[in-house]
Amino acid sequence: MPPSNSAPINAATRLCAVLGSPIRHSASPAMHNAAFATLGLNWRYLAFEVDPKNLRAAIEGARAMNFAGLNLTVPHKLLAVDMVDELDASARTWGAVNTIKFEPGAVGHVRAVGFNTDADGLTVSLRHDLQMELRGKKVFLLGAGGAGRAAALKIASENVAELFLMNRTASKAAELAAEINKQFPSLHVSVGHPPGEVDLLLNATSLGLKPGDGSPLDEGQFSLKQVRAVYDMIYKPAETRLLADAKAAGCKTANGIGMLVGQGAKAFEIWTGRPAPLDVMRRAVEASVYGSVTK
Ligand code: ATR
Repeated sequence: MPPSNSAPINAATRLCAVLGSPIRHSASPAMHNAAFATLGLNWRYLAFEVDPKNLRAAIEGARAMNFAGLNLTVPHKLLAVDMVDELDASARTWGAVNTIKFEPGAVGHVRAVGFNTDADGLTVSLRHDLQMELRGKKVFLLGAGGAGRAAALKIASENVAELFLMNRTASKAAELAAEINKQFPSLHVSVGHPPGEVDLLLNATSLGLKPGDGSPLDEGQFSLKQVRAVYDMIYKPAETRLLADAKAAGCKTANGIGMLVGQGAKAFEIWTGRPAPLDVMRRAVEASVYGSVTK
C-alpha cells in the first residue's frame, strides 16, 4: 500500500490539484499524496474535471484560494500559456505549461508561474524504461499537440540523427517541423512516414486513451517491423492498441508511466522545494493505475 497521509486536513493544509478533461484516468493525486505523506508535509493533491472554457476561471480560483500549485493535462497545456503571469524557461522552450506554481508577488498579489516538466520526464523514462539514449537515434513521433510539441523539441535538443513527424492535422506537424528547423538547423526533420527503419516510435497523440480507440499508426503506410522500440505516452490503459501491436511485432515497448512519475517528481520539487521521493511516487502510481479496483 502506498503511504497515506494520516495527518488531519486543517486550516494550514496546502493544496495542489490537476485540472483536465477527462481527468478520471489521472494517477497524479495518488502519486503526490503518497509523496507528501512520506515527507510528512501537511499538503494534499486533488483532481478536477475542468472544461477548456472554464480553465481561466479554475486557475484564477486556485490562485485566489492560495493553492500552492496546479498541474494541467489534456486539453489545457497550450491554453494555459496565456493564463499565467510568467513563463519559466522550460515552459517558454516547450511552449506548453503542465505545472503552475503560485508564489507571493507584489503586496496582496499572488504570481502564477508556468513550467513544463513533461520534457524532462520523457528523457528520464526513455533511459529508465527502454534503456535508450536519444543521441544519434532515428525517431518517429506521432502527435503535434501540446505534448507532441514538447516531446519533439526535447528530442531535437538531444542530438538525434533524424526526426520524422506525423499528426492527424498535417499542417500542425508542418508548423512544428518548421519551428524545429529554425531552432536546430543541423537536425534532419521531416513530415511524413519514415522511408526505412527507426530506433524509436513515440506516440504523443491522445488516441488510445478511450476504450475502443484504435492505433494512431497507419500500418498500411508504416510497419511496426521497421521499429526497434515503441513508447506510448499514454499510461492508462497500460496497453494501448499501439503497444499491443508493437509487442506482437517484436518491438521493445514502454508506456508513459515513467514519464508521469518523472514530470510529477519535477513538479513536486518546484512546489515544495524538497527532493521528490521517486520510488514512493512510482509505486503509488503503479498501485493507482494498475492495482486498484477503481478503473
Ligand atoms: P496534449 O496536450 O496531450 O498534446 P492536445 O494538445 O489536445 O493534447 O493534442 C492532442 C494530440 O492528439 C494532437 O496531436 C491531436 O491531433 P490534431 O492536432 O489533429 O488534433 C491528436 N489526436 C487527438 N485525437 C486524435 C485522433 N482521433 N486521431 C489522431 N490523432 C488524434
